[in-house]
Amino acid sequence: MKTITLIKGDGIGPEITDAVIKIINSAGVAIDWDIQTAGADVIEKEGTPLPQRVLESVKRNKVALKSPVTTPIGKGFRSVNVQLRKELDLYANLRPCYNLPNVITRYDKVDLVVVRENTEDLYAGIERQIDDNTAESIKRITRGASERIAKFAFDYAVNNNRKEVCVVTKANICKLSDGLFLESARNIAQNYPQIKFREILVDNCCMQLVQNPNQFDVLLLPNLYGDIVSDLCAGLVGGLGVAQGANIGKDYAVFEPVHGSAPDIAGEDKANPTAMLMSAIEMLNYIGEKEAAKRIKLALFETLNAGIKTADLGGSAKCSEFTDAVISRLAILVK
Ligand code: NAI
Repeated sequence: MKTITLIKGDGIGPEITDAVIKIINSAGVAIDWDIQTAGADVIEKEGTPLPQRVLESVKRNKVALKSPVTTPIGKGFRSVNVQLRKELDLYANLRPCYNLPNVITRYDKVDLVVVRENTEDLYAGIERQIDDNTAESIKRITRGASERIAKFAFDYAVNNNRKEVCVVTKANICKLSDGLFLESARNIAQNYPQIKFREILVDNCCMQLVQNPNQFDVLLLPNLYGDIVSDLCAGLVGGLGVAQGANIGKDYAVFEPVHGSAPDIAGEDKANPTAMLMSAIEMLNYIGEKEAAKRIKLALFETLNAGIKTADLGGSAKCSEFTDAVISRLAILVK
């Protein structure tokens, strides 16, 4: 039996985690969950939101499923998410984004993938207070990390039958940092003549995404633009409640939804577990449980097609009702 780290998080984290585990169990996949808590709730007891035991668990099991963790705005502890990605060198943040059945959106046939560099840029945490009225943050970009993520994006394109990689920067303004990211992507692109290579500035990219998202295939971005643009892309296909994600490195992989801990609806049984479920489906594919992944996806799509949706998608189903609906469809598929 495969052991997988399960990071429960806070806010809506525990609700959507419980929902997804129930669904996976119903699909007949035997997984031994190594449950780890992180975030605001463990600070008081353990002095840190990301105790060493969590990192050790992921290192031991190589794969984790993670629900969102709150990061206090302003001063305080560094984000658990940023720290986890950095400590485990999960350099690629992969966020596939496509229309789901019966989820009404402005556009049909959106099918793009955001590949976001996950370890540096303004997220490197090199910030300082110069005086009471001045603070600065260093945007660190290295050739090594940029070439590595560009290679990941092109390999992903080749392996997933994608036609184009579009690198997104603001290299006209951040000439050295974004310039280096762009130059690295150009260098790597030369090794993939079968994949079309395109360059776009991030502001124009946002406008183009809102007007005509179907023109994009694989988007390659530095960390900050990737974070922002992937939420925009989530909005194109139904919002954060359906947006899946994965953090992948050479040795470890952590699957998690794009959204945060949604404190505004936490504990109300209102959260949409779809984003977490889609992330878990990708995790099952990653560990070779492809049949179960297919069954769960089918049950999820049948549930949506039957018009059972949570409030964020305009429906009236509670998180628990939606979960039960997926499980009842799964029961028919498993038989
Ligand atoms: P958020 O993603 O938690 O929420 C934004 C909006 O989307 C809210 O209105 C929320 O109710 C809604 N929403 C999000 N997920 C949903 C779901 N599954 N079903 C239904 N509605 C959903 O973003 P926000 O409010 O900016 O951040 C809250 C906290 O989460 C912050 O502390 C932030 O740092 C943290 N965060 C954590 C992430 C992670 O653990 N990977 C990622 C993003 C934010």
